[in-house]
Amino acid sequence: MDRQRRRVVVGTATAAAAATLGLSQSGARAEGKAELDAGIDVHIELRAVQEDVALRTGAPTRVWRYRGEVLRGGARTLEASDATYLGPIIRVRRGQRVRIDLLNELPEPTIVHWHGLHVPDTMDGHPRFAIAPGQRYVYQFTVLNRAGSYWFHPHPHGRTGAQVYFGLAGLFLVSDDEEAALRLPSGRYDVPLVLQDRSFDDNNQLTYLGSGLTDGAPSENPDRPPMLEGGGLMRGGGMARGSMGSMMVRMMGVLGDDILVNGRPSASLSVEPRPYRLRFLNGSNTRIYKLAWHDGSPLIVIGSDGGLLAAPVRRDYVMLAPAERLDLWVDFARWPAGSELSLRSLAFEGGMNMGGMMMGRGSLPDGASFKVLAVRVEEAAQGPRETAPPALLSEVAPSDPSVAVNSAHPKIFELTMGMMAWGINGRSFEMLEASPYETVKLGTHELWEFRNDETSGMMGMDMAMPHSMHVHGVQFRVIERSVSGRLAGYRGTVNAGFVDEGWKDTVLVMPGERVRVVVRFADYPGLFLYHCHMLEHEDGGMMRNYRVTV
Ligand code: C2O
Ligand code: CU
Ligand code: CU
Repeated sequence: MDRQRRRVVVGTATAAAAATLGLSQSGARAEGKAELDAGIDVHIELRAVQEDVALRTGAPTRVWRYRGEVLRGGARTLEASDATYLGPIIRVRRGQRVRIDLLNELPEPTIVHWHGLHVPDTMDGHPRFAIAPGQRYVYQFTVLNRAGSYWFHPHPHGRTGAQVYFGLAGLFLVSDDEEAALRLPSGRYDVPLVLQDRSFDDNNQLTYLGSGLTDGAPSENPDRPPMLEGGGLMRGGGMARGSMGSMMVRMMGVLGDDILVNGRPSASLSVEPRPYRLRFLNGSNTRIYKLAWHDGSPLIVIGSDGGLLAAPVRRDYVMLAPAERLDLWVDFARWPAGSELSLRSLAFEGGMNMGGMMMGRGSLPDGASFKVLAVRVEEAAQGPRETAPPALLSEVAPSDPSVAVNSAHPKIFELTMGMMAWGINGRSFEMLEASPYETVKLGTHELWEFRNDETSGMMGMDMAMPHSMHVHGVQFRVIERSVSGRLAGYRGTVNAGFVDEGWKDTVLVMPGERVRVVVRFADYPGLFLYHCHMLEHEDGGMMRNYRVTV
């Protein structure tokens, strides 16, 4: 990373700090314009703010959300909705130079991470770059990724779970010429669907680990922001204040009672009888979905985390773990006009549980069966009838483990639980540390294997938990999966729904499972994260740095 860019970032953050909360809109914009680099194609100002949104009948819900404004770029660069807390959808093209100014108008530190994007480490939203309330962080990068559905969300240490839960997340959609040439369903026939689960109290307020945004916590203690107390489970007085049950939830992960699609409860979608592209993102903190049509109609998958597959694949159901994305191609003309369909999450085994207990886990356990989305096929004239998407979608070379510098000795990453903290190979997150084992050489490929072996966890109880492993700054390929031991049966209830054919940045690792991936560390040296994307696991220590050296 060049020096100059780094100076810009640090410099603007400091200038904004001096202005603190008084930073005015116009002042911010003038400053932005003055520093605007020549050659920037898209310039967005993104504010993280607190707002009230009408989500359910009755009182509005207090949320934290992203608000965006396009300072340079086409009108379609941002698509926002007042009906949801989700951030604006950001649309860019591959190769564009993007500048995004983050302004923190929250009462606690935050930083934005561009999930799935390949950017320099100073642009990646590592928690070491978290900015205080009133500060600004300037991102500048070229969009190198293939066309695909990426997303952005906060990443301050120990507070990612809470900040995402309270509403901070948005889609970052990249298009390119290869994709455009396919003439896939576009415009209003290209529908993003962000799946999340939330719990509301009697007053329609979001509750997260016993605290909400309207009851004073966590924002009423500015002298002692929770993220500065360090990670792990003792943070925020989990042990001292909470019951055993709430401590378990903090450890295992938060599940909501209500399923929200695009930030709306009881969501429904009205479609014309014609082909659509449905882009799914699992934006939930911990919940895994096993998606299927109510009538068992097959799903045609055309893309995953890192964009289009080489060719469409067919599944009876698909698994979507936290932070994973999937693109489906659906011709709604296959159902009679007027049909009421529903997309469901089917039951599976091996979700979060601990010695069979579901302590304080609310009404919708992991692995339960429930409705995700109601879909109504309109009685409209039938649109273009195509029975299948293009047979060839994209140039995706077969994955090749032999290119890895350690092809004979994959690096093993065991997903571990220590005394009240998650870890990877027994070590929890350290802000600036990466071990020699976690150091890779720029320009090389490595084989990494995530092992979710059976362990006896906390207090001798058996641990059987899936994890959703994510590596920052790269797209990888899944080479193989294996499963063994007493927990092998769990995977049998989900494995027909894995989509491992394409580029991925997040992969579900079931209890007892080992997943081997090949990763290429190209272009950018520096310090990046890898972690479980179940956000309470991440905040609780199942996150580490890796270092790319030249
Ligand atoms: Cu969505 Cu650290 O990532
Ligand atoms: Cu990421
Ligand atoms: Cu996990």
